[in-house]
Amino acid sequence: MSDRRRGPRTKRQAEKWKRELERFRTIQRQIKEEAPDILASGNFRRTKEYIQHGSMTVNEHVLSVARCSLIISDRLHIPCNRRELIRGALLHDYFLYDWHIPDKKHPHNLHGFYHPGIALRNASREYTLTNREKDIIKKHMWPLTVVPPKYREAWIVTTADKWCSLLETLHMRRGHGVILQKLRKE
Ligand SMILES: [Fe+2]
Ligand SMILES: [Fe+2]
Repeated sequence: MSDRRRGPRTKRQAEKWKRELERFRTIQRQIKEEAPDILASGNFRRTKEYIQHGSMTVNEHVLSVARCSLIISDRLHIPCNRRELIRGALLHDYFLYDWHIPDKKHPHNLHGFYHPGIALRNASREYTLTNREKDIIKKHMWPLTVVPPKYREAWIVTTADKWCSLLETLHMRRGHGVILQKLRKE
């Protein structure tokens, strides 16, 4: 391929990456603006110590779900309350334990069924949650939770959660969990 042909294509690619990076930064900024208290809290930071799927920590997972929820809302032009969407997504897996580590006292066999309730209880202790945020946390595992989401924000987060979980389980997204797993083995 001649340099003449490669030039514009590379430039186009670079412009595309630049736009995507800009979009990512805008979304990150929105998350920081709407949830500074959650992001700075000790318990939320603790979620960096727990694995969610594959090599992703719970912290990385919930941030991915928040970003993905905003992208779904934007791309599909679904009007929604962005603040509640972000805060609900950040707290949807606020169960505060590592479900991969066996616990004889509180076995995690039925983690999939019970963790939305545990996350809601933990989040309610620290934050004044709106009905939408509660619905997001409580119903994000639908259809496991049987009762479907009531608000569109909860539908968006349950969709984003499934998509992100699939990519993480298939190791198509890698996180800092690898370091945690190595440290635990040592
Ligand atoms: Fe979950
Ligand atoms: Fe999740």
